[in-house]
Amino acid sequence: MAAATDVRVSSGENEYTEEDWTEFSRTGPGTLAGRYLRLFWHPVYIAKDLAAGRAVPIRIMSEDFTLYRGEGGKPHVVAFRCAHRGTQLSTGWVEGDELRCFYHGWKYDGDGQCVEQPAEPEPFCSRIKIKAYPTIEYLGFVFAYLGEGEPPEFPRYPDFEGDGIHEANRYFMCVSFFNALDNDPVHVYFVHRAPRQDFRDWKGWTPTIRAEENEWGRANYISRQDGRVDCNLRGMPNLVIRKASGEGVGRSAESPRMDFLEWKVPIDDESHWNVHKVLVHLSGDDARRWEERREADVAARDVDPTGLVHQVLSGRLYMDQIDRERTRMTTVQDMVSQAGQGVIADRSDEHLGRTDVGVVHWRKIWERELRALAEGRPLTQWARPDSMVNS
Ligand code: FES
Ligand SMILES: [Fe+2]
Repeated sequence: MAAATDVRVSSGENEYTEEDWTEFSRTGPGTLAGRYLRLFWHPVYIAKDLAAGRAVPIRIMSEDFTLYRGEGGKPHVVAFRCAHRGTQLSTGWVEGDELRCFYHGWKYDGDGQCVEQPAEPEPFCSRIKIKAYPTIEYLGFVFAYLGEGEPPEFPRYPDFEGDGIHEANRYFMCVSFFNALDNDPVHVYFVHRAPRQDFRDWKGWTPTIRAEENEWGRANYISRQDGRVDCNLRGMPNLVIRKASGEGVGRSAESPRMDFLEWKVPIDDESHWNVHKVLVHLSGDDARRWEERREADVAARDVDPTGLVHQVLSGRLYMDQIDRERTRMTTVQDMVSQAGQGVIADRSDEHLGRTDVGVVHWRKIWERELRALAEGRPLTQWARPDSMVNS
């Protein structure tokens, strides 16, 4: 929690100060940003990585949970620890749609209700209930609602339900989720530039950026002097929507159209999952060839990006020394630039310019919502229109 200032408000059992309105990166229980994020559904796991009849520990927003998939295939998120003597429930056994603790065999259903205490002479199951969280499988992810009370309506993304190649991935990022959300469109030309490109011609294509709030968050329009306008969309609170085509940055004219949803989901205050949904608009033989290439590409890129980032940031490695064939360069480039700000960026000493209008605008939306939450005022109800990438 931030240091005290003159402005204090109480919100439920929590008291917040003015500095909390802009404390975007702290998302643990009780923090203002954490309370705000917990009002939304989040993708917490890759669906195909969770086999039927298995449980795993997950950490989201500095809280630990147990995610398991019943033998019939239904995923559940429940508390991290057993109510008996606190053992980690993911070490237990899945039986049907229920989860049995490893230590003394207490068993819980998907609602967290204890249903068996096998070694107890006088079981008291009815008095034991652990927390359970609404869970939905969609677009290749397990989504969970980790807040209190009834969840909001589950947001669907019909643009991503159609035919094509569907990918669902997530990448570990050693930096606050808000550094990533706070990213700007200009960085692309520097951070993700082609090798050996220099910037002597940069002034020839200085972009003009305009930011607009809309029903789902914010649109950034980036006008370049060659007449092209790129649109960069953000869905509140932590979603990036990207539409890339043959005309996109770094893509050849033959590249297929690919649409992206990217959720930045905090693991804790200093790291997050970059959760990617990709729909590649290809079918038939083109799709098969593309998938083969993609598989080979994924297999080739076997170097841990986080290790490289730490080496670069500590001066033991230079970006141009990285083996690009074996590395997911975009991930390394983004992490180096964002963790280079400090894993939780200190925004008090920045000098923002005209190309940062989108950054300022995005922070203002976040600040307005956090302040409203702290003061108990109504929050903006963000929509998810049927078509986001085509609007
Ligand atoms: S700690 Fe889980 S049954 Fe004892
Ligand atoms: Fe980037």
